[in-house]
Amino acid sequence: MTAHKVDVRDTASTVQMRSPVVMPSVDAARLWGDVMALGDITEAERPYTRRSFSPTFARGRAWLAERMQEAGLVVRTDAGGNLIGRREGSAADAATLMVGSHSDTVPEGGRFDGIAGVLVGLELARALRDAGCRLAHAFEVVDFLAEEPSEFGLSCIGSRALAGALEPAQLALTGPGGESLHDALVRVGGAPGQLERARRGDVAAFLELHIEQGPVLEATRIDVGVVSSIVGITRIELRFDGAAAHAGTAPMSGRRDAAVAAAQAILAARDLARALDGGPEGYFVATCGVVEVRPNASNVVPGQARVVVDARSERAASMQRFCAELKARVDAIAGDGSGVAASWQVLSHNDPAACDAALQRVLAASAQQLGLRHRSMASGAGHDAAFVARVAPSAMLFVPCREGRSHCPQEWTDSAELAAGAAVMLAAVQRLDRELPLHRVATERAS
Ligand code: HGY
Ligand code: MN
Ligand code: MN
Repeated sequence: MTAHKVDVRDTASTVQMRSPVVMPSVDAARLWGDVMALGDITEAERPYTRRSFSPTFARGRAWLAERMQEAGLVVRTDAGGNLIGRREGSAADAATLMVGSHSDTVPEGGRFDGIAGVLVGLELARALRDAGCRLAHAFEVVDFLAEEPSEFGLSCIGSRALAGALEPAQLALTGPGGESLHDALVRVGGAPGQLERARRGDVAAFLELHIEQGPVLEATRIDVGVVSSIVGITRIELRFDGAAAHAGTAPMSGRRDAAVAAAQAILAARDLARALDGGPEGYFVATCGVVEVRPNASNVVPGQARVVVDARSERAASMQRFCAELKARVDAIAGDGSGVAASWQVLSHNDPAACDAALQRVLAASAQQLGLRHRSMASGAGHDAAFVARVAPSAMLFVPCREGRSHCPQEWTDSAELAAGAAVMLAAVQRLDRELPLHRVATERAS
């Protein structure tokens, strides 16, 4: 994988200041108002739910597109279904400084996961415009399509496309009612037949602000986190096929109970993750958040069961070990005379992604310059930046998250905390505009 590293230090001496030294500033109230307004676009009776490809998601996107236009950005949807607002730079054909995240949510998620990063990007565009500050680089605000695991079983659909990593075979994945991902992409304005047009090679730097979704910044009273690396995620679908039977008349011996097999697999995933977590292997977690049985009736022995395992690791080797050992356990569960057949399908796999070291330094220096406490930290959550990092130098900034709660309606960050993160992003974008070369060149492989 060719990595693109730009060492900001080497270019600073050779490039004159191009953006006039003006002090655009973040309008905290405007930013907060946007977050509350977009957060309120949710499914009726369900808090903070904008599932990708849903009508509610489309309403949220329409709202976003209008705000981008009002901010003077040229708005389009790319072939991968990403909503992009763009302002050309003062330099002709300059590379792009990109800021973004996602506006879709998990079911009954929180107010801030994803939209904080998109709306901070929008606020930067307005702050620069209001100050009459025209960057030399092009500037883009991006809402990536379907960062959360979608009904098609795939996450980060838009950022995969931007990285050239959305496989044609994945377009055949089907969702509710049998709709293909191909057709769903068309429905949201993408062009699945031209995915190569979504792949970007012009991004000089990508920055994503996100709530931490963990307790560290709040517990240590640190204002912002500069993300060092983003965890690798593998999602596996297990299906168990036994035989439905009458709960009252089927003797315990001889049952082919798919739910029991699923339960054994869930416990195996937990035990294997516990064994890998925290040792020399570093961070390792596994979650079985999707568990379905059929026919799902109290008086019927389940004939079928479906489990989706979400496993995360800082090290690719640990993930390989986990998958090999879990597969062996699942095969043993099916083979021990249970009469239950098991199938195994890897729905998605993404290796851990390192954030660009030079961009991390710029974010830390920008926080320092603003008198904010900052620290380096890894991300246990997956993010679009993990895919964008395949085609452009990428980095992330975390803001604190109350009690570390996320993916639930209790998710919260304060207006002042969000505005502080936005100010760091604004300072970083202006600095990168001054210091990064105006045109992108691919460089040697990452070390
Ligand atoms: O699942 C995640 O880590 C992210 O919130 N999509
Ligand atoms: Mn999320
Ligand atoms: Mn997110």
